[in-house]
Amino acid sequence: MSHSTSTTRAAGVAAAVAVLALAVPAAQADPSGPTLRSEAPRDLEIGSAVWGQNELLDHDRKAPTEFQRLLGAEFGSLTPENDMKWAEIHPEPDVYDFSGADAVVAFAKAHGQEVRGHTLLWHSQNPQWVTDAAATWTCAEARDVLEDHVRTVVGRYAGEIYEWDVVNEVMQDTWDAGGVRLRTEANPFLAACSDDPVGLIGDVFRWAHEADPEALLFMNDYNAEGVNAKTDAYYALAQELLADGAPLQGFGAQSHLSLQYGFDESMQANFERFADLGLKVAVTEADVRMPLGEDGEPTAEQIALQAERYDGLLQACLNVSACTSFTVWGFDDGRSWVPGVFDEGYATIMTEDFEKKPSYVALLDGLTDATPGTSPRTPPGLSS
Ligand code: XIL
Repeated sequence: MSHSTSTTRAAGVAAAVAVLALAVPAAQADPSGPTLRSEAPRDLEIGSAVWGQNELLDHDRKAPTEFQRLLGAEFGSLTPENDMKWAEIHPEPDVYDFSGADAVVAFAKAHGQEVRGHTLLWHSQNPQWVTDAAATWTCAEARDVLEDHVRTVVGRYAGEIYEWDVVNEVMQDTWDAGGVRLRTEANPFLAACSDDPVGLIGDVFRWAHEADPEALLFMNDYNAEGVNAKTDAYYALAQELLADGAPLQGFGAQSHLSLQYGFDESMQANFERFADLGLKVAVTEADVRMPLGEDGEPTAEQIALQAERYDGLLQACLNVSACTSFTVWGFDDGRSWVPGVFDEGYATIMTEDFEKKPSYVALLDGLTDATPGTSPRTPPGLSS
C-alpha cells in the first residue's frame, strides 16, 4: 500500500477545498458512488457513533430516514453513542434495558456492519444507584456489581461486537488534582478498590474476555493521540496489565480535537509504540470542533483546516497496520454532542442538512489513495 507524502496530502486537501468552495449537497451526490466504507483499505473499519434509542428503534419497520440511509451506506462499523453506558443499559440494580443497544446491533447486522462496544468501566454516565451505593461500597461489593454487569452486557452481545472499549478515561489529566495518575476518586469502582485499582482493571478485562473471547478489548481516552504524559501513563499501565496476563488487546485514542489547539504530529509514533506492545490501536471518537463567529458559521480557513485535521487523524491510522478502526463521533452536525458541551461547533464531517464537508472529502480521498481500485466492503442491498 502506498501513501501520499504529507505535503501532497495537504495540497490535495487544499485543492479539494478550492474546488468544492463550501460543500456538496448530498442530493447531488451520485448514490452509487464511492463511500467511506467502500473505499476503506485492508481490514480497516470506518465507523460512526449513533444513538440507537433516538435514531434506530424502529429501523426495520419504516422506510429509512436519510440519516439511516447514510449511516448504512457510509460506515462499516457503529459505536452506540450512549446505549451501552451504565445509566442507559443498567438503570436500576436489577433492571437491564437493552432496547437501544439491541437496535444498534440489529441495524448493524442488517447492514453488514461491525459494532464497537462502549463502555464498561467509566466515571461518567453511571446511574444514580451506582453513585449512591458507591458511598458505602467495600471493594468486594463493588467488584461483585461490576463483574455481574460486565458478564451480563458482554455476554448478551457475545459474537456480535468486534471491539469493546472496556475501560474509558481511567487516567487523569495533567491539570487534575494529583496530576496524571489513575482516576481513583471520581470512578466509583476504582474508588472502592483504591488499594489495587490496576488489579480491578485487569479483572474487568478478564471478565469481558471470558464473556466474549472473540472481541478485541480496548482501553480508551481523550488527549491520548500524541506521545504525552497521559499516554506515557497508559503505556506503563498497558505494560503492567500485560505482565499480569490481563487480556488487554487495544488502545483507543478518542481524538476529540479543537482547532483552538494544534495537531500533535507524534500521533503515529504513539500508535506505533502501543502496536509494538502487541496491541491494536484505533481512532475511536473523532471530531474536530471550532469556535464560531456571531453568525454561527465557520470561516473558509477553519473549514480547510478542519479537513487537514481529519486527514491527519486518518493518516496516523492508515500508516500503522495495527490500526483496526477509524470512528467519527457522529457524522452530522445536527446530532453532534459538541454544541451541548463546548462553546464550539461544526465538528463533524457533514452539515445538519447532510451536506458533505471538505472534511468528508479529505477522508474519502485519503481512503481512496490508500487502496486504489477495489474494496470488498460494498454495503449489501442498500437502496439509494
Ligand atoms: C458523549 C455523548 O456523545 C453524549 O451524547 C453524552 O451526553 C455524553 O457523552 N468521551 C466518550 C463518549 O467516551 O462516551 C462521550 O460521549 C464523549 C467523550
